[in-house]
Amino acid sequence: MSDKPRLVVSRRLPEAVEARAAATWSVIANPEDRPLSVDELVTRAAGARALIVTPTDWVDAGLIGALPDSVGMIATFSVGVDHIDLTAAARRGLVVSNTPGVLTEATADLTLALILMAARRAGEGERLVRAGQWRGWAPTQLLGRHLGGRRLGIVGMGRIGRAVAERARAFGMAIHYHGRRRLPAGLEQDAVFHDRLEALLAHADVLSLHVPATPETRGLIDAAALAALPEGAILVNTARGPVVEDDAVIAALRDGRLAAAGLDVYTGEPDIDPRYLDLPGVVLLPHLGSATVETRNAMGFKALDNLGAWLAGGSPPDRVF
Ligand code: DGY
Repeated sequence: MSDKPRLVVSRRLPEAVEARAAATWSVIANPEDRPLSVDELVTRAAGARALIVTPTDWVDAGLIGALPDSVGMIATFSVGVDHIDLTAAARRGLVVSNTPGVLTEATADLTLALILMAARRAGEGERLVRAGQWRGWAPTQLLGRHLGGRRLGIVGMGRIGRAVAERARAFGMAIHYHGRRRLPAGLEQDAVFHDRLEALLAHADVLSLHVPATPETRGLIDAAALAALPEGAILVNTARGPVVEDDAVIAALRDGRLAAAGLDVYTGEPDIDPRYLDLPGVVLLPHLGSATVETRNAMGFKALDNLGAWLAGGSPPDRVF
């Protein structure tokens, strides 16, 4: 038996990450690459020092309580930590780390892809071609809207929000934002700060969400918020599903308050409210925000760096608390 410390890895990770993990750890892998049940995770954790989990693992108080005493750290392969009960982890004395910073550019790129797809009706066009229903160019077919001169409202001006703003400026969009506090002048550039969400909403021809899922942000974009948007606005969500109220978004898409939406994340994913599927103006992606080879490698290396620091007796650089 290997004398390396045991590490449970809940899903398949990029090859380069798995290779690096194996150099230090005796890895208990999941070659089937499906979300594991609580029982399966607990069984695999016997004698393990640490776990790498992903947003598809619900690390709730039940799982945390059932983990063997040998486990001292959980490194999540994600920047989001809403799938982990941090209070239960703290009570149990578990160290938790995440992967901030390395997925900023990939997520911002994908946000722009969704904004463009929604504004230019690219999803509808793609489906038309695939269905064999395209009869050729026509002067009035699938007309979208320019981004230039329109206002982008960003909720949450952290790393990803700022990277989205930088890209949107290149398309000629005016940037408005709402966050907990105003950015320092050097970071704000020409963006307009709104200290109240309602004030931002009135200025958002395109609304893009970049806040974590917390009790404060759950249902933030509800019927009242959507009613405050200009008629025919576009909503883009690459943050977390529960930040929007699906009933309200679907009603706003149906009555035209929202002209289109681009969604990468969902409440209860991978299940998706089936009503979205019947709305042609909605672009639906399967949580691809960070899905580039470079970013997923960087996320894995970061998780391993955090584990390595802890194993060496230090504090992980991306310790969540
Ligand atoms: C995260 O890291 O939280 C993303 O949602 C998945 O990459």
